[in-house]
Amino acid sequence: MSTNLSARMSALRVSPTTALFSKVEEMKKRGEDIVSLNVGEPDFPTPDNIKEAGIRAINEDFTKYTAGNGIAPLREAIINKLSKDNGVTYETNEVAVMVGAKQALFAALCAVAGEGDEVIVPTPCYVSYPDMITLAGAKPVLVNRNSDFSLDLKAIEDACNEHTKAVIICTPDNPTGRVYTEDELRELASIAVRKDIFIISDEIYEKIIFGENRHFSISSIEGMKDRTIVVNGFSKTYSMTGWRLGYVCGRKDVIANSVKVQSQTTTTPPSISQYAGVEALNGPQDSVQRMVAEFQKRRDYVQERLKAIPGVICQDIQGAFYAFFDISAFLGKEYEGAELIEKDTDLCEYLLEKYHVAAMPGSAYFAPGFVRISFASSMETLKMALDRIEAGLKAHKC
Ligand SMILES: Cc1ncc(COP(=O)(O)O)c(C=O)c1O
Repeated sequence: MSTNLSARMSALRVSPTTALFSKVEEMKKRGEDIVSLNVGEPDFPTPDNIKEAGIRAINEDFTKYTAGNGIAPLREAIINKLSKDNGVTYETNEVAVMVGAKQALFAALCAVAGEGDEVIVPTPCYVSYPDMITLAGAKPVLVNRNSDFSLDLKAIEDACNEHTKAVIICTPDNPTGRVYTEDELRELASIAVRKDIFIISDEIYEKIIFGENRHFSISSIEGMKDRTIVVNGFSKTYSMTGWRLGYVCGRKDVIANSVKVQSQTTTTPPSISQYAGVEALNGPQDSVQRMVAEFQKRRDYVQERLKAIPGVICQDIQGAFYAFFDISAFLGKEYEGAELIEKDTDLCEYLLEKYHVAAMPGSAYFAPGFVRISFASSMETLKMALDRIEAGLKAHKC
């Protein structure tokens, strides 16, 4: 008998985004004027037609457990969406509705990887991928991306061995805003075939994409449907973060395993949210277009401001709502009113404490020397935040 805690849990980090969120909330409660650019959720309300569908579900008493893989009309709406957007046809047992894309990712990882298995994660990456892999009992293998954040395909192929089960990718990407090209995804697909592994494709930002960039799903490549596990959700496209609704699509045995994870943990996604999700997919899409147009304006502004700060390296942001910029030129320097700043974490701490702006350090995404800010805030807030960031960065002594 022992009251020691789980060894697997001690290997996990508390999600760095959640940890910073709590600290910022504390500071705000103390009355400090903090501009938060750390949170990854759209600042728009959920569109009215979707809210009304949720209210209707409550009034019509759709407030009970549902089928473990989600209600039939929602799975049908997802199947239609995937056929229209990706040109891929799924059967009803190849799609399952989950409690957010996050649970879909975790369930998919548990479905294909466990003790002794490895999952390749190109970095920088979404904060949760490596910890989710660890929680599933497998080993995350981090592989750096190229300096323009494209996939280092040779490094990925070299990292594959007999234990490798999958590569996990995100496009458009959090945190870098990179959209993978069809060519690089075709190359990745051929590695997956050669090495006989899965691709877990997180497409949650697919609609938030700028300029000439186009979303391409690796699942749409001939022969890749059964090898790809597509994860998507409603949080970003429909501003539904609190409704906790996502989905996973892939080979039917992968989906059956994913549903087992859900059935033994959260049982089903919220019934009310599922009815709202049907309206989100089948209803008018003009609110999505309006939101993306607004994000594009903010992206242009944020990108221009960052590029104008000497020493900051900010690449063009192709999608999602984050700027991920290189601040290595600002490290190893002394700042007014602060100690020597050596790491991106020190710099973010300094910006928060002295300039009251909350940003995420790149090391949270396994990319030290960078900072991520979200532009899911009003133009007014962004202007104030960038004034503060610029002043903070320029305040070093040498
Ligand atoms: C890349 C990525 N995947 C998944 C998620 C989780 O989304 P959900 O709210 O649907 O769980 C997020 C949320 O920030 C994300 O950025």
